[in-house]
Amino acid sequence: MIILKSKDEIGIMRDSGKVTGYILKELENIIKPGISTLDIDRFVEETIKKNNMIPTFKGYGGYPGNCCASVNEEVVHGIPSKDRILQDGDIVSVDVGSTYKHYVSDAARTYGVGDISDDARRLIDVTRDSFFAGLEYCRVGYRLTDISHAIQEVAEGAGYGVVREYVGHGVGREMHEDPQIPNYGKPGRGPRLAAGMVFAIEPMIVQGSYEVETLPDNWTVVTKDGKLAAHYENTVVITDGEPELLTLME
Ligand code: MF3
Ligand code: CO
Repeated sequence: MIILKSKDEIGIMRDSGKVTGYILKELENIIKPGISTLDIDRFVEETIKKNNMIPTFKGYGGYPGNCCASVNEEVVHGIPSKDRILQDGDIVSVDVGSTYKHYVSDAARTYGVGDISDDARRLIDVTRDSFFAGLEYCRVGYRLTDISHAIQEVAEGAGYGVVREYVGHGVGREMHEDPQIPNYGKPGRGPRLAAGMVFAIEPMIVQGSYEVETLPDNWTVVTKDGKLAAHYENTVVITDGEPELLTLME
């Protein structure tokens, strides 16, 4: 069941989203060669708490971090560690959730560390573009998989793979609500979109095969072929007009 949110609920989610979006914006300046992924986690925790919010991920299903920090071939759910020092040329995907007055915002970006290859930059850019292609269909009158299909077209059109095993989702009082939102599929299927739906749309795009596996830490998801992965996510409100992005600070 897809839970529609009231104006008041969306107002709270907007406040939550501002903090998540601010963190992801600030990380553009913080991420550089020599910092550890635990340094990222500390900044995320500190900023969420300073704003009287709760790090959504901490303790979720036993997850130990305040954010996820996934380096290079790591797709999602990388656990921040003091021993994971970012190197010039790496890419790192950071996923952040903030909970405010019981409402969650969820978003992610992939950052280049120092100077990255043209191939890595293109993967990051296409992943972001695929999100915005999906966003075009986040409007009343379209159906759920119109979003999925648009994301897939952009990613595969650029020669990349779309991860199948992890998907976007409804978001609200729970981080993961209905519906599941795959980043691939035939258009014109699934529920019709309605004002008050709130989605976390999150393409996970890879340079090679879309096959992934989970490391023995039981969290870190990596590409099976070891090629690079990128992630781009925002919390999006379906309205009677333009979709509203709650977690994007320009
Ligand atoms: N933000 C991720 C998602 O979009 C979930 C993080 S998993 C957690 O679904 F365990 F870290 F919380
Ligand atoms: Co999400």
